[in-house]
Amino acid sequence: MSGSSRLYDDPELAAAYARVSATNAANAAYERPAVHALLGDVRDLDVLDAGCAAGEHSAWLAQHGARVVALDASEAMVRLARERLGELVRVLHADLTQPLPLEDRSVDVVLSSLTLHYLEDWCAPLREFARVLRPGGRLVLSTHHPFMTAGDVDDYHAVRLVEETWRGFGAPVLVTFYHRPLHRIVADLLAAGFTLRGMHEPQPTAEADVRDPKLAARFRTEPGFLIVDAESARR
Ligand SMILES: C[S@@+](CC[C@H](N)C(=O)[O-])C[C@H]1O[C@@H](n2cnc3c(N)ncnc32)[C@H](O)[C@@H]1O
Repeated sequence: MSGSSRLYDDPELAAAYARVSATNAANAAYERPAVHALLGDVRDLDVLDAGCAAGEHSAWLAQHGARVVALDASEAMVRLARERLGELVRVLHADLTQPLPLEDRSVDVVLSSLTLHYLEDWCAPLREFARVLRPGGRLVLSTHHPFMTAGDVDDYHAVRLVEETWRGFGAPVLVTFYHRPLHRIVADLLAAGFTLRGMHEPQPTAEADVRDPKLAARFRTEPGFLIVDAESARR
């Protein structure tokens, strides 16, 4: 299991992340609205929420008519998601660095939100996403924008570990994730057989200005997250 999965296994951090990200500017008024607008109509679709945390995206997907399977490597997050989602969503304890406990060609959409930047290697999980998607299925993933992490590394062009102290989730906590240059994101997607439909650099919503004016002003001119829209092979 990856280092960051163990990080989110701390029940206090998991609960703090769940509480804060439910209403904060970065998730609730920036990333989630942009992802949901991009997903569009999900009615009657089978959707995998890969890296579901406490289930914010899963709840939206289920409320909008999707059949959702969610997974997370953190037991604490899986517990919170099951408490929150009840019968609405099947929540699995599973690690994206391992083969996924899903049948080939069993979902229409894979959503992986703000999770892949915890993984050094994207090839294995992207291959698994391609395997479980039906032909012509859709992968929507959000990740740290390389513009945001470039200042933390000595070489923009390489995949590099970044350490950061978070202070917005209870006691200060050291978090590690990976800076990944844009060309690697694209190359890994193409190598896994995906076609790119689009890459999006969303703008914060007006609500973000209310919730955190400083962060909203920053994200208006400096992208925080990148959202990738890709399609699996049509065979
Ligand atoms: C920042 S949270 C984002 C979660 C959620 N998608 C959201 O937008 O609120 C990252 C999540 O990825 C999960 N995660 C990290 N590494 C993982 C892995 N290897 N396999 C599955 N989940 C992982 C963590 O446990 C955590 O719940």
